[in-house]
Amino acid sequence: MRAMTYRGPYRIRVEDKERPRVEHPNDAIVRVTQAAICGSDLHLYHGMMPDTRVGTTFGHEFIGVVDEVGSSVQNLATGDRVMVPFNVFCGTCYFCARGLYGNCHNVNPNATAVGGIYGYSHTCGGYDGGQAEFVRVPFADVGPTKIPDWMADDDALMCTDALPTGYFGAQLGDITEGDVVVVFGAGPVGLFAAKSAWLMGAGRVIVVDHLDYRLEFAARFAHAETCNFGQVDDIVVHLKKLTDDLGADVVIDAVGAEADGNLLQHVTAAKLKLQGGSPIALNWAIDSARKAGTISVMGAYGPMFSAVKFGDAMNKGLTLRMNQCPVRRQWPRLFEHIRNDYLKPSEIVTHRIPLEDIAEGYHMFSAKLDGCIKPVVVPAEA
Ligand SMILES: NC(=O)c1ccc[n+]([C@@H]2O[C@H](COP(=O)([O-])OP(=O)(O)OC[C@H]3O[C@@H](n4cnc5c(N)ncnc54)[C@H](O)[C@@H]3O)[C@@H](O)[C@H]2O)c1
Ligand SMILES: [Zn+2]
Ligand SMILES: [Zn+2]
Repeated sequence: MRAMTYRGPYRIRVEDKERPRVEHPNDAIVRVTQAAICGSDLHLYHGMMPDTRVGTTFGHEFIGVVDEVGSSVQNLATGDRVMVPFNVFCGTCYFCARGLYGNCHNVNPNATAVGGIYGYSHTCGGYDGGQAEFVRVPFADVGPTKIPDWMADDDALMCTDALPTGYFGAQLGDITEGDVVVVFGAGPVGLFAAKSAWLMGAGRVIVVDHLDYRLEFAARFAHAETCNFGQVDDIVVHLKKLTDDLGADVVIDAVGAEADGNLLQHVTAAKLKLQGGSPIALNWAIDSARKAGTISVMGAYGPMFSAVKFGDAMNKGLTLRMNQCPVRRQWPRLFEHIRNDYLKPSEIVTHRIPLEDIAEGYHMFSAKLDGCIKPVVVPAEA
């Protein structure tokens, strides 16, 4: 089959690779019809993620058609049109029993902190991802679901990560009626978080980024106020002024470890990798939340940090909440919202790229060229 493969930081290509096989009775093999590139894939692409092995295939957002099932699979059959959550999870362990699918205890022998994620390095279990013609889906009775007949492919694809993660970000903010919600990052996750904040009763939603084309999109798509942090002296002071000098009730970090906005942090963390990334967006969140406010962290971070304003968070009495999104748990509510036209997630898709050209897709998304917000990758046979 044809598959995207990693060759080293900033180097990927499409190669012939052995088609995955059923390895366990509860595996399914899915023929991918669409995959997406996520902001998280950029951390891999930039060489930020430990144990990203040469030859592995990325891609944790994908939909497709079931091509083959193992002998114990009961919920899926060959020919089913399916969507697959980015988490690999067993469905029965202590954590899965509590709906914490991102924290499954049975799917990643390489680490105790993080669960299993398709196409996300051996640190996250070493599962090959869906930026390929075929992908092996373990625990096929547990993770994937048939795409409802009425749901469009693009909407289903956005339900495998970006939409549920944005929605989860807003949920973890414990938004109450009239709250001022600030979202750092106007990528797919931040855009969906901003949109979801309204569904949870927010009174104001302010999105912060430094890319004007994304902020313009946030204003249109999520009806948010926007702020370009590159055009104000001090983003924290600016946000305080916008919020009666108190700060925001809820702040959502949809940026993560590769944040811009502080050259020293960016160079020491993101480039020299002296700690698990740049905590600049997280520190802005801590500073711009009001005392006793809530911070919801969706942005991805490496394990070790020394420059986080943790004491300020403590003294302000902030509630910090965070996790990998338990995608499947979000589906019933999100399906309702999509069906009732409260959410139309496919609106953020800006590019459609043949699998053979995926290297250009990564470059464009990474360098934020051509107004790119969400690139979708399509295998030739799809
Ligand atoms: N928790 C989860 O389950 C989960 C799931 C998906 C993605 N993520 C993470 O969420 C983050 C966002 O993903 P995405 O797909 O939207 O990525 P993206 O790269 O498209 O968007 C990130 C945005 O943040 C902006 N930005 C950079 N520095 C900033 C700063 N200091 N303040 C405000 N904005 C800043 C960038 O300009 C960009 O528009 C990534 O870290 C990704 O790994 C987490
Ligand atoms: Zn992702
Ligand atoms: Zn589990």
